[in-house]
Amino acid sequence: MTMPAQRAGNEAASSFRPEMSLGEALRVLTRLLTEAGLDTPQQDARFLMQGLLGFDGAQLLSRSGRPLGDAAGRIGEAAARRIGHEPVSRILGRRAFYGRDFIVTPDVLDPRPDTEAVVDLALDLIRSRGLSEAPLTIADIGTGSGILIVTLLAELPNARGLATDISAAALAVARRNAEALGVAARIQFVATTGLDGVSGPFDLVISNPPYISTEEIAALEPDVKDFDPGQALDGGVDGLRVYREIARNIMELHAPSLVVLEVGATQAAEVEGIFSESGAQPIGRRQDLGGHTRAVALEIHL
Ligand SMILES: C[S@@+](CC[C@H](N)C(=O)[O-])C[C@H]1O[C@@H](n2cnc3c(N)ncnc32)[C@H](O)[C@@H]1O
Repeated sequence: MTMPAQRAGNEAASSFRPEMSLGEALRVLTRLLTEAGLDTPQQDARFLMQGLLGFDGAQLLSRSGRPLGDAAGRIGEAAARRIGHEPVSRILGRRAFYGRDFIVTPDVLDPRPDTEAVVDLALDLIRSRGLSEAPLTIADIGTGSGILIVTLLAELPNARGLATDISAAALAVARRNAEALGVAARIQFVATTGLDGVSGPFDLVISNPPYISTEEIAALEPDVKDFDPGQALDGGVDGLRVYREIARNIMELHAPSLVVLEVGATQAAEVEGIFSESGAQPIGRRQDLGGHTRAVALEIHL
């Protein structure tokens, strides 16, 4: 944190007193985050207050005259952390994804709304083939918090999954999310690189691998580069290293499969090219909320 940000953080931590009303606290928090130059100060202030108080938006509004009480300390601490660019979801330790609530810790990538494109594309393919009730086997490579495999198993009641990650700490978070959302009995968690040592076959392989080139990481926003684990971001010299590993892994399974991958905003054609070289056919794309191709689907026939 820079010195001015540090000073602003210290000031923020002491700006909230127990007798202050919730409405006043929301205004002060919004002002502090605005002065700190954050992009979405109103939204961040509202989400922080709601999360820390356990209220929804309507409750926060209707109880705005109530005093903060012992929440004052928590709100001051959260304000200081957000001024230091820590993302709201990391401060709250939770993030909503595809309508469900996931635990987020410093060991995992903060799940992004754009990643919902991977789930949408995978579910569209499965539903259009009449496989929603089938006993599918699904592998999730680089599961992180487990958002992809946990969401798919929650949507597909008869599917089973295998989730891998090079980080044992991330796998522990994914397991907690699977338990909290009632799908842990259908998932196997394996600490490995890609699918190394794993035996298939799988009907579907999904992944949101690290895809930022090593050089670009230094230029990322502090909210990302200072808080997401490096191994969740770094895709090697050209950002495509893990896609190549996944393509090799999948071909080594010697089985037909659908593959749905998240890709960086400009990477769709290159990633499709990597998999096509291994004999896979591109069969679909999905855009994110910003209009970038964010997910690609491929099919391997053998
Ligand atoms: C971009 S994060 C995605 C996490 C989660 N799937 C999501 O969408 O939020 C990539 C994850 O892959 C893991 N990882 C990186 N390289 C890997 C590899 N070669 N094999 C398996 N996991 C890997 C990282 O530890 C990280 O948890």
